[in-house]
Amino acid sequence: MKPETPRPVHLKDYRPPAYLIDKVDLDVSLHATRTRVRSRLQVRPNPQAGGRHGPLRLDGEHLELGEIGLDGRPLTKKDYKLTDTALTLSKTPAGPFTLDIETFVDPQANKALQGLYRTNNVYCTQCEAQGFRRITYFLDRPDVLATYTVRVEADPNETPVLLANGNLVERGMLQGGKRHYAVWRDPFPKPCYLFALVGGDLAPITSTFRTMSGRNVDLAIYVEHGKEERAAWAMDSLKRSMRWDEQRFGREYDLDVFNIVAVSDFNMGAMENKGLNVFNDRLILASPESATDATFEAIESVVAHEYFHNWTGNRITCRDWFQLCLKEGLTVFRDQEFSGDERSATVQRIIDVRQLRTHQFTEDAGPLAHPVRPESYIEINNFYTATVYEKGAEVVRMIQTVLGAEDFRKGMDLYFERHDGQAATIEEFVACFEDASGTDLGQFKLWYSQAGTPELVVALRYDKDKKTALLEVEQVLPVTPGQSQKKPMHIPVRLGLLGANGHDLALKLENGAELADGVLSVTKRRQSFRFVDVPSRPVPSLLRGFSAPVNVTLDLPDDDVELLMANDADLFNRWQAANGYAARTLIEMVGKSAGGRKAGRPQRYARALGAAVASEELEPAYRAELLKLPTQADVARLIGKNVDPALIHRAHRQLSKLIGRTLGPLLEDLYVTMAGKGDFSPDAQSAGRRALRNAALTLLSARGTPEDTARLAKHYFKATNMTERAHALLLLAARGGPEAAHALADFHERWKGDHVVIDTWFAAQAQSPLAGTLGKVKALMRHPLFALTAPNKVRALIGTFAMANPLQFNRPDGAGYAFLAEQVLALDRMNPQIAARMLGALRSWRALEAGRRAQARKALQRIARTKQLSSDVQEIVSRMLEA
Ligand code: PHE
Ligand code: ZN
Repeated sequence: MKPETPRPVHLKDYRPPAYLIDKVDLDVSLHATRTRVRSRLQVRPNPQAGGRHGPLRLDGEHLELGEIGLDGRPLTKKDYKLTDTALTLSKTPAGPFTLDIETFVDPQANKALQGLYRTNNVYCTQCEAQGFRRITYFLDRPDVLATYTVRVEADPNETPVLLANGNLVERGMLQGGKRHYAVWRDPFPKPCYLFALVGGDLAPITSTFRTMSGRNVDLAIYVEHGKEERAAWAMDSLKRSMRWDEQRFGREYDLDVFNIVAVSDFNMGAMENKGLNVFNDRLILASPESATDATFEAIESVVAHEYFHNWTGNRITCRDWFQLCLKEGLTVFRDQEFSGDERSATVQRIIDVRQLRTHQFTEDAGPLAHPVRPESYIEINNFYTATVYEKGAEVVRMIQTVLGAEDFRKGMDLYFERHDGQAATIEEFVACFEDASGTDLGQFKLWYSQAGTPELVVALRYDKDKKTALLEVEQVLPVTPGQSQKKPMHIPVRLGLLGANGHDLALKLENGAELADGVLSVTKRRQSFRFVDVPSRPVPSLLRGFSAPVNVTLDLPDDDVELLMANDADLFNRWQAANGYAARTLIEMVGKSAGGRKAGRPQRYARALGAAVASEELEPAYRAELLKLPTQADVARLIGKNVDPALIHRAHRQLSKLIGRTLGPLLEDLYVTMAGKGDFSPDAQSAGRRALRNAALTLLSARGTPEDTARLAKHYFKATNMTERAHALLLLAARGGPEAAHALADFHERWKGDHVVIDTWFAAQAQSPLAGTLGKVKALMRHPLFALTAPNKVRALIGTFAMANPLQFNRPDGAGYAFLAEQVLALDRMNPQIAARMLGALRSWRALEAGRRAQARKALQRIARTKQLSSDVQEIVSRMLEA
């Protein structure tokens, strides 16, 4: 907690550092409550800083300063100024010099989980974004790149494993075996946010990887003793990622070792520290009995993501934190491409777009909207957002769409060649694509600076005499906080025109203008495109593959939607047609205030859905995606204002029930035929069959007959893997009754000894739409396995309740919001980063109907009134109330 009022940092104020640090020698003597850190820095004035050579201000927080020396001479208190956030030397030599600094930290007391902390008896560090300053005084900014040599010392019994970045150079015993040490050296210059150190009693699983140039790399994943077998999938994922980056981007790994450590308390998913990735253990550990297919998939993609950072993030890093999307958006794009190649590209795209819409579009539509590259921040931790990550990835994907795959790859090659070893900017990144392809991306760059989700309002007019089709497009750019005026953007729209038989018609623009790859470039506020030689009235298939992160408004009759659902050559858009149809149906049902009793669109939609899902030439994973309705949050976002979550919940239930009834025989058939035979395998095909079976079960259970409930209970108790068991648990917990109680008790009994798997049990209860859920959640906070200091527990219980239980969180009496406010305040005293994240659950509060809106405002104001808020929570709450 920083006592002074936090001040915003602005991109336009960027200045190169006055000093550089070329080399760092760290000597860390681990102790649970008093770890000693000795740091020797090779410092010099920065020639790029325009001859400025003023005081040297080093960042530092929560540190106890010991001795300090300059070029071997001890400094005294009058040689420096010390505050809560900095150590400043007013006089420094004109040339290079050596600075020795000793600090002491308390890892045990560190509940913010930034800097050096201790979890489950393991020492570990987290330095991104600004955690290194909690370890020692330093120029804690990403444009200061140094090589590091790190000596770690500890008690060998308690802490036998000692790891840091780079390659191991030496290890040995001290004091007759009372202490031991290891020395690690990382030859690649890096910013301090990529520094890492781990000490603990952990067990490795090991393997080797032969790189494309024939070097052998030793791989190891460190986990709790006894959990080694559960790291096999992560290891497999790592090797496939390493191969993929060689084949797809020509990128080879560069050190002799690559280590991963799984820890139980971690603020985020994982961290890409050079040669020493640190992971939240829920994203490493998996076995068929303990992990769902979704977890296997997440492990594969996060392992890949962190590995891919070695080039996009580490070898080329960010000049400043405003450029965060330079590494995150690009690396998400790369991990999405990897998952698409390893699995089904179409299904992957559907999953990614669903995620983007649910999280990023929602963020973009509310008070926390910000550009992919923000222009100011108070607390950088608050900008690890869906916008920076997921929309950032979409922007990279659009560059690929605009340039074509070949020129895109050339641009990437140029980027790696030109900026290796540097701290780069978005301008430099984009310039590589312009230079490699000769394309002007000037207008395109607005994607980095303009927030909000553009809307494309489209109309298609067919002239049957002239055989022409006129596509009229208007881009509507919504107002977002701090941005009321917006310029028209460059939006790549991939499209097709379907004839009456459902086949694609040839796309010919008037004047013979070309349509490369089926992609139209929309660049003006209003624009029209005339297609010629169109033999019959076409049905447009717009934004194929989701070629841009925008909303499309086009009023198509149901017949046309059904034509797309059944025939679109672009499978993504077939799914989109089905999903949009479902959304439109749900919105209509909400509007009628739960009418929908008279046969109409819901029945029509259900029948069309049945026809699409029945086609066996489509892969099971894809059919499962068809069966999943838009989430309640999606419907709320589409409604946009005066949202009543209870009405949406009711419509959702009714439509699920109606589909369950209408498609009963088909769903029962799928439930039987998709059952697994033989041994469990986590591969995409097998997972797809399980997904389809679970999706069928969801809709069958929505009917709520005694047979359905019996099937559900059986699904739980007869399950041979966690994918089946966890899904049944969730559905049972949503229903309640003796079957739910029985299954929950069973699950608790099976997994109470496993801190990762038990989170499924917390989450299933927190997500239940039953009236008693808030009381249950409060009671579960007193369960011995729950701890407010453990981010995974907080996310499983409080996070699930606030973000995945729209009905109960949005209770009309405001008790859900009051509960959240109370927890945010409690969390803020320990872990501000997690507190601010939880508060994000209220980001759509202004879209609620008046009663709930007033309750939400009260909860927010209560937080805002509290003294001693962290800068994290302070920033979020004020942005939420301001906008
Ligand atoms: N850089 C990490 C990633 O994307 C995320 C992270 C941010 C982890 C901040 C910890 C702290 O993979
Ligand atoms: Zn990342």
